[in-house]
Amino acid sequence: MLTTNCAFLENEILDVARLFKRRPASITHTFRYEERGVFYNEFEVDGESYSFEDRGQVCDEIELKRLERRFAKLRLYEILSEKYGEKMPWGALTGIRPTKLAYTEIEKGGDFKTLFKQMQVREENIRLVEEIINAQRGIYEKKDGNTDVFVSLPFCPTKCAYCSFITAPIDKTRQYMPAYLDCLEKELQAAKGSVKNLRSVYIGGGTPFALDVADLERVLKATNGAMKSGSVEYTVEAGRPDVFSKEKLQLLKAYGVNRICINPQTFSDETLKKIGRKHTVADFYRAFELSKSYDFTVNIDLIAGLTEETPETFERGVEKAIETGAENITVHCLSLKSGAKLKEEISYIENERISEMIAISRKLLSESGYEPYYMYRQKYQAGNNENVGWTKPKKACVYNIDVMEEVADNLGVGANAISKRVWNGEGRIERLGSQKDLPTYIAGVGETIAKKRKFFE
Ligand SMILES: C[S@@+](CC[C@H](N)C(=O)[O-])C[C@H]1O[C@@H](n2cnc3c(N)ncnc32)[C@H](O)[C@@H]1O
Ligand code: SF4
Repeated sequence: MLTTNCAFLENEILDVARLFKRRPASITHTFRYEERGVFYNEFEVDGESYSFEDRGQVCDEIELKRLERRFAKLRLYEILSEKYGEKMPWGALTGIRPTKLAYTEIEKGGDFKTLFKQMQVREENIRLVEEIINAQRGIYEKKDGNTDVFVSLPFCPTKCAYCSFITAPIDKTRQYMPAYLDCLEKELQAAKGSVKNLRSVYIGGGTPFALDVADLERVLKATNGAMKSGSVEYTVEAGRPDVFSKEKLQLLKAYGVNRICINPQTFSDETLKKIGRKHTVADFYRAFELSKSYDFTVNIDLIAGLTEETPETFERGVEKAIETGAENITVHCLSLKSGAKLKEEISYIENERISEMIAISRKLLSESGYEPYYMYRQKYQAGNNENVGWTKPKKACVYNIDVMEEVADNLGVGANAISKRVWNGEGRIERLGSQKDLPTYIAGVGETIAKKRKFFE
């Protein structure tokens, strides 16, 4: 239970407490700011009292809030870390985008490494952020009007047991497909004038290849009809190896798609069975081989922390992923959102093993010439770790960088697509989500189009 006299800090203090496997039964927090630049934080944690006095330079109201937040989180982290004898990979940082924080520090003329050290981020994670910022050079661009387009296809062949995305098996949703495609066409047509400077297009899911050839062609045709997709990075998150076919790949090529995802998740057939993926490792290789002659940039997704996998199994998987020569490899850490109990058990039981897996992936990928180029953390991420996208030099995905760093607008069409407008100068971001379930989205598409048009004015 938490009480604080600083309401805006409540969630952030709770986020710090949630980092730990053991939690205090009660936290009482009192904050005072009496003199210029002196911050007082007092905590009572399970009956024990702690008080801190920190100093920082305050030039405006925004900086004041930033420092209030920073000191309160850091001090609680120190108390709990000492109390429970546990240190976290990202120290007292709880946000999902450490690189954004680093950019903010750099833009203020500061050194993000000093801040990260103060927040007790592990040395290797400070290095990771530095490498990501280096890999983003030349792509990262803070310019209003830059826009990425996302087309949502929330259909899958079957639902994988671990998956936290809003998507459903196509057998249950096929009846909505014709109306859904009508809506996408309308949305894309209406979006024509809204895109100022197109940076990339991403048709994602779900599993876009769960659609049959004719339906997929409708989506590609509508996308290309609405914007000059062929002239920019154009990704289709084709997805699960069991739905790949030559016809679908040819279609992508014909419509100017230049990047695809073929996702094994793991290179163990045993794990694939346990997580209900309904395909084998051989299916992955078949899909990969099939795609080779089309000269796409290929991304493959892996997940660390899948059911009963050991660091050794995972290591073999990373080696095999590297052997494929894919330009991009994304390493996710398992994050379970539903079923709080299970979610918590997994996060904490697996802590050490997941951190070991992540360390292995970083070592193997760096040694093989891959660079980390974007990352994000999620709540309930196993081991308090992160997801990292790795790339061969000069093959980084623009879409992933823009989305994670939040420097460009995102025009999302379809169910559960979240559009975003960014005013870089003011540091302001607004979001507009659309309905999550298919019938509601379909029924409300007229209103969605009107809202979106206004949103992008
Ligand atoms: C939107 S999914 C689409 C990929 C595609 N449908 C497939 O399964 O091949 C993107 C990626 O998120 C990752 N993912 C999904 N659920 C996850 C979870 N619970 N924890 C960690 N990563 C997850 C998987 O690696 C997946 O490939
Ligand atoms: S196929 Fe992909 S999006 Fe669909 S349920 Fe599995 S991991 Fe999730």
